[in-house]
Amino acid sequence: MSKHTFVLNGKPVTVDVDDDVRVLWVLRDLLGVTGPKYGCGINVCKACTSHIDGKAFNPCSVRVADVEGRRITTIEGLADAKTGQLHPMQEAWLEYDVAQCGYCQPGQIMAAVAKVREKGPNITDADLDEIRNVCRCGTYSRIREAIKAGAKNMGAND
Ligand code: FES
Ligand code: FES
Repeated sequence: MSKHTFVLNGKPVTVDVDDDVRVLWVLRDLLGVTGPKYGCGINVCKACTSHIDGKAFNPCSVRVADVEGRRITTIEGLADAKTGQLHPMQEAWLEYDVAQCGYCQPGQIMAAVAKVREKGPNITDADLDEIRNVCRCGTYSRIREAIKAGAKNMGAND
């Protein structure tokens, strides 16, 4: 075991765990942060999608030793911490009533936010094709509508 420190949803956390443990298990089992979902564990389904230094990553496939000092954000940290105001992408998700069973949805929203940060507010269907998050309920068309709407409302700091 060894100590690892990183920033989780704006607050520093330290865990005592083997270097090779994947971040998803640190988040869910040690820290109780269960927004990032376990689907495949091998970087395929994308249910665990979260952000590292503002970009999408899949914590099921990253060792805790490799996130030392980095800034990790999960769906729990997406809303404004001071006001509780939901992120524009979360608002769009509600407006378009996207979720069905809900299991994939935290990862879908985190992937959407990261993609809009990368591509800008006028995101295209070709850009959206790059998002590989699986939805077993098949909510893909509503996901696309919500991302396009949410993108228009995202500011430079979102
Ligand atoms: S659980 Fe991480 S990609 Fe499937
Ligand atoms: S809403 Fe059920 S898996 Fe996507």
